[in-house]
Amino acid sequence: MSYREDLHRASDWAADYLERVSDLPVQSRVQPGDVRAQLPDAPPEHGEPFEAMLRDLDAIIVPGLTHWNHPRFYAWFANTGSEPGVLAELLIAALNVNAFTWISSPAATELEVTVMDWLAQLIGLPRGWHGHIEDTASTATIAALAAARTRKPGGAVYASEQANFSVEKAARLVGLEYRTVETDDAYRMRADFPLEDATAVVATVGTTGTTSVDPVPELARRCEEAGVWLHVDAAYAGSAAVCPELRWCMEGADRADSLVINPHKWLFTPMDCSALWTRRPEAFHEAFALVPEYLAATPEAVDIKDYGPALGRRFRALKLWFVLRWYGAEGLRELIREHVRLAQLFASWVEAEPGWEIVAPHPFSTVCFRHDGSDNFELAARASATGEVFLAAMRLRGVDTIRLAIGNAKTTEDDISRTWEVLKSCT
Ligand SMILES: Cc1ncc(COP(=O)(O)O)c(C=O)c1O
Repeated sequence: MSYREDLHRASDWAADYLERVSDLPVQSRVQPGDVRAQLPDAPPEHGEPFEAMLRDLDAIIVPGLTHWNHPRFYAWFANTGSEPGVLAELLIAALNVNAFTWISSPAATELEVTVMDWLAQLIGLPRGWHGHIEDTASTATIAALAAARTRKPGGAVYASEQANFSVEKAARLVGLEYRTVETDDAYRMRADFPLEDATAVVATVGTTGTTSVDPVPELARRCEEAGVWLHVDAAYAGSAAVCPELRWCMEGADRADSLVINPHKWLFTPMDCSALWTRRPEAFHEAFALVPEYLAATPEAVDIKDYGPALGRRFRALKLWFVLRWYGAEGLRELIREHVRLAQLFASWVEAEPGWEIVAPHPFSTVCFRHDGSDNFELAARASATGEVFLAAMRLRGVDTIRLAIGNAKTTEDDISRTWEVLKSCT
């Protein structure tokens, strides 16, 4: 069997999977240890044919997967390993570029700078900021806080009590104290906390729980006055700003010192791809630039390793490039708009149904709701156990709540309608 044939088999497998994924149970049904028990204890002594690997992929691994690419996956933040993203990942592996310095692969760096500039335009950010791609928003926030620390070491990081826990982790890692700020009735960070000892404020555009949007313009004004770094975590909702009617969510972000959005959340890019911009690249450079002799800088060129924690860097720009070109701005806007429409439609059904209630504002594609008289954790688990849908529950100010997060490019109105039926049948 030739390698070319194996490649064809792999691409056929991927195409078939993407076609049949909606027929698979969304959430894996295996028990802890089930997958491990089917795998050999030791690695093979002799090389095996690719066919054998594909066979085990089907027999052992796929049943042990929760299918993130399923149109009825609504847990956490749903996402999409889109067709252009899948194609790009194959080519990225074939190219195997390590994009740490410009000279390590000039086109990788220049493409990264270009797609970051394209994305900045798409979401209405000012031109000319430094932008690069990190693996995750967690890493991007670590980088941002390390940059902030160069301006004011030893202070505290303030973020909303609804901020993602990655912010606290980042503060801990860079050795800054972490303080949470209360939120208002709509789960938005209050802007009237003292800033004297602050190194940084992290504002969230689209919090993990309810997708609330912190008052960025007011926080930006206060941070400017106090000389405090403002980092905006728009990991999920920043993508919404490709639609002019949703761009309100990024108001004030142009006054932030740094900003992250995750194309691997709501911009149809497979894991992993996190876009980080700053208007203070010199602070990132100060935090991260170290130039060992064997990595001499090229005059006039950007070495992206000098702006973040990692030396080795995947060629993620290629997949973002493919995604932006495949859909075009218009295609991206259509998908995001459709997701928001579906979420609002679902919310209207919940609101109209006696015994059910919406528990938080839902400006984007995520709806928090509950059934009165049910344990909503159990209800989400029962619905997910049907294999038809996968939903997560959480406690919101002490109240058990189900979250429906729409983010897969293949999710349709039929999916949403079926999901509602399943939920009602599980009460
Ligand atoms: C608002 C927000 N910020 C940051 C993160 C962390 O993202 P990542 O998994 O890319 O580190 C999440 C994850 O869901 C999130 O919801």
